[in-house]
Amino acid sequence: MGQNNLAGRHQSGRHITFHTSIQTANSGVHKGHLVLINRENPIRQIPSSDRLAPIRSFPAIHTLKDGMRLERTCLRQLAELLHASEGIDDIIAVSGYRTKHDQEQIYSSSLADNGADYTARYVALPDRSEHQTGLAIDVGRLSKEIDFIAPAFPDTDVYKTFKQLAARFGFIQRYKEGKEALTQISCEPWHFRYIGYPHADIMERNDWCLEEYIDVLRSYVYGSEHLLFEDDHSLAEIYFVAADTGASTSIPLIPCDRFSLSGNNVDGFIVTAFKDKSRRSHV
Ligand code: DAL
Ligand code: ZN
Repeated sequence: MGQNNLAGRHQSGRHITFHTSIQTANSGVHKGHLVLINRENPIRQIPSSDRLAPIRSFPAIHTLKDGMRLERTCLRQLAELLHASEGIDDIIAVSGYRTKHDQEQIYSSSLADNGADYTARYVALPDRSEHQTGLAIDVGRLSKEIDFIAPAFPDTDVYKTFKQLAARFGFIQRYKEGKEALTQISCEPWHFRYIGYPHADIMERNDWCLEEYIDVLRSYVYGSEHLLFEDDHSLAEIYFVAADTGASTSIPLIPCDRFSLSGNNVDGFIVTAFKDKSRRSHV
């Protein structure tokens, strides 16, 4: 992913090095965990194969087909979420990463089997599907009959626990009831999108869909008011940097213990800078 989507503490020995800015290629606008993919904002950057990992590298996870893959961080967090919700024996991974060709086939077979109206509501056009990023996972109730396009994912038992814990592990239910005018997709209780923590938690608390959140973040420009988030472990400052008109953008960094950087797939970058409370209590 080049310079984009950097995450981690920049540390040498015991001394933390603070960068004051990093120069990032503008192609980075289309990479990272916060990319907005929808009808207006097609995928521009498919993940490199080294960013994808087989779901069965976690052998306990049930998968509908062999060879299913997900973006690495998304997969690791999915495994943690399944473990925390005690859903590993009841939940199956139905569909993960898809190539453009996969999405074309799904779209055309749904058109033939289900018709245009259903397909427009439940299947994204090729290059407009989050599945092509490796950051989307469809989950279903493990059973003999599983609907590939619209798997059953009840709002009870372990499925409900999975949904309630999802944000803590960086996942959102991407297509919710009431947000159809913005997402242009009908409610999909089975489709979870990895965007990372604390973003998923912030969205959940404010009932924002990704279209709304990306708009909100644009108002927290670097140097003005930043979006603040605090939990037991850290303080996070989140801010937006518009992409420069040239080939690259200078991303200013505030002093922090670690940060992540993601493009929004529209017009700029989102910085999430963390200060760890434990580190502060020891100095
Ligand atoms: N079902 C979602 C919208 C997709 O096809 O990506
Ligand atoms: Zn899906």
